[in-house]
Amino acid sequence: MLFKPIMWIKKDPEKAQVFWPSDELKEKAWLNDETIYKEAAKDPVAFWAKLAREGIEWFKEWDETYRWEPPYYKWFVNGKLNISYNALDRHVKTWRRNKAAIIWVPEPPDEKERVLTYFDLYREVNKFANVLRSLGVKKGDRVGIYLPMIPEVQIAMLACARIGAIHSVVFSAFSGKSLKERMMDAEAKVLVTVDGYYRRGKQVNLKAEADKGVEGTSIQKVVVVQRMGIDVNMVEGRDNWWHELMKNADDYCKPEVIDSEDILYLLYTSGTTGKPKGVEHHTGGYAVQAYWTAKWDFDLHDEDVFWCTADIGWVTGHTYGCYGPLLVGATMLEYEGAPNYPQEDRWWSIVENCGVTVFYTAPTAIRMFMQWGEEWPKKHNLNSLRILGTVGEPINEEAWLWYSHKIGGGRCPVIDTWWQTETGGTLINSLPGIGPFIPTVAGRSFPGTQHEILDESGNPMSVGEGGYLVQKGPFAPGMLRNVWRNPARYKEYFSVYGEKYYYTSDGARKWDALGNIRLTGRVDDVMKVAGHRLSTAELENAITSHEAVVECAVVAAPHDIKGEVPVAFVTLKKEIESSDKLIKDLIKHVDVTIGPTARPDKIVFTSELPKTRSGKIMRRILKSLVRNQPIGDTTTLMNPESVRRLREEVGYEE
Ligand code: WTA
Repeated sequence: MLFKPIMWIKKDPEKAQVFWPSDELKEKAWLNDETIYKEAAKDPVAFWAKLAREGIEWFKEWDETYRWEPPYYKWFVNGKLNISYNALDRHVKTWRRNKAAIIWVPEPPDEKERVLTYFDLYREVNKFANVLRSLGVKKGDRVGIYLPMIPEVQIAMLACARIGAIHSVVFSAFSGKSLKERMMDAEAKVLVTVDGYYRRGKQVNLKAEADKGVEGTSIQKVVVVQRMGIDVNMVEGRDNWWHELMKNADDYCKPEVIDSEDILYLLYTSGTTGKPKGVEHHTGGYAVQAYWTAKWDFDLHDEDVFWCTADIGWVTGHTYGCYGPLLVGATMLEYEGAPNYPQEDRWWSIVENCGVTVFYTAPTAIRMFMQWGEEWPKKHNLNSLRILGTVGEPINEEAWLWYSHKIGGGRCPVIDTWWQTETGGTLINSLPGIGPFIPTVAGRSFPGTQHEILDESGNPMSVGEGGYLVQKGPFAPGMLRNVWRNPARYKEYFSVYGEKYYYTSDGARKWDALGNIRLTGRVDDVMKVAGHRLSTAELENAITSHEAVVECAVVAAPHDIKGEVPVAFVTLKKEIESSDKLIKDLIKHVDVTIGPTARPDKIVFTSELPKTRSGKIMRRILKSLVRNQPIGDTTTLMNPESVRRLREEVGYEE
């Protein structure tokens, strides 16, 4: 063990262990002096201006670093840049030209890896940018990307950025219907998709799903990557093969001069309503935060091999599976398939074979590996690893320690990064060369940012107390700038505690006087299921749209591996009998409407849902039921007997 627990904190009944960086970690780290926090806090705007100059090459410097016009804010006003230029051209001019940018590992173990150097990636991106132009895509147009984990996804994203088109990536496990909803909202002109891909040894025919998503939308052209060589339906005049278009494309496309506040991408995410929102990230600020968080959180050096296991369809994939590592000129690993294909050691065999040094995943994956047993990682030499990261949900102490010891060999700290689709990049975490690393405590606010924990009336909490997490301005440069065509939803983030605070919807506890923060989970009706963000309202809409259903309420129940899972309480039409077949039907219906990641873990049929006198479903009661917690006061209920009945019907205990 290179780093040891040096003290026990008694402020918490659970007595967390506190770890500090080893000398080796400290010596190597970009940051190893904690005065950075104080320095940055003196003048956060000047701090970010300095980082923006050092990290990004601007075509023209900004006139004003930060402008706050509540509830809006701008960074690097009138600054001009191109993020694809920063991720590619910049490196191609240096020795990094022939450095591996992406090591791609296909799922079938007998298929060869593909390595794209920075120069390879540069050429592909230039060519595809020209292809997009030839299809009529202009600056500001929206391009849908519905691709699995293959390098064409990064190529397509960077090609959009090169010409100033706005990409909107949709998770490939979402259904065609979900794709369509997002494409309609974004009014996309072109969609990039694939014939199919491998998932746990099976072929997934994504093109068929994509076709459902394109029909009836504004999409005029579809570009199809040939990954599998399977037979797919190609619509004459609309659908084109990627490889055919690329054959004749010129390999240089001059990067468009982009304003710092031009939109880089939209990413749809779940909120508390039934409709996903298109979170807008703008170019300049996002580039700066992606660059510095990638570099400092994961201490990326030129010799590192960085693997972020998140799918590109989520924000983690955008920032740490594409922009961040490429901006800093790192080598990153991309894996197409399932963690347990062909066996439960696939990830560890990749770490060993490719010499991964920095590894970033979700707590849910760690708990899954814990359950599969330590014999799987033990089969492999994981000595290349030096830093581990997690994201997406709170990590329990047991998983943290297992990860650090069984995967990290006791050498590797776990960087527990808290952030959101809305924040664009990480915001609360410890830094590898500074520490401390405290299981279940994410860490301090990233230098130059400030978070507070408030009670319901807006009073700041003291050490040891829990409340609601907010970010205080100046808001981090990578934060959302709007919700696509829905400013009212954007304004909600700045309405709970007034315009000075961005409201996160997360509960948190102030850990110590250093500023360390423990996150305790969402306080709204958004769930984190195996790290995936899901809205109960979307799921309820999906289930109630089934012809047999009258009413439905979805709540999150705790789950040992996935963190949380949806449980659906469903009332059926009078004439309809509940049955196993109906359960299967409803699950299928959710697959088709949203996608398999949203499948309820349990469907409970009930004759009546607990309601208030005004007819509102009391989710609080259902939440207590699935947690086996005391129900509390039921006097405000219109139908208190429904609770007793639910207990009897469902078998939940108090
Ligand atoms: C949760 C993922 C605890 C949190 C990048 C947040 C976390 C939501 C952590 C955003 C963490 C993310 N510890 N909770 N380290 N990281 N969360 O938009 O509830 O998919 O609000 O972004 O994930 O999920 P999203």
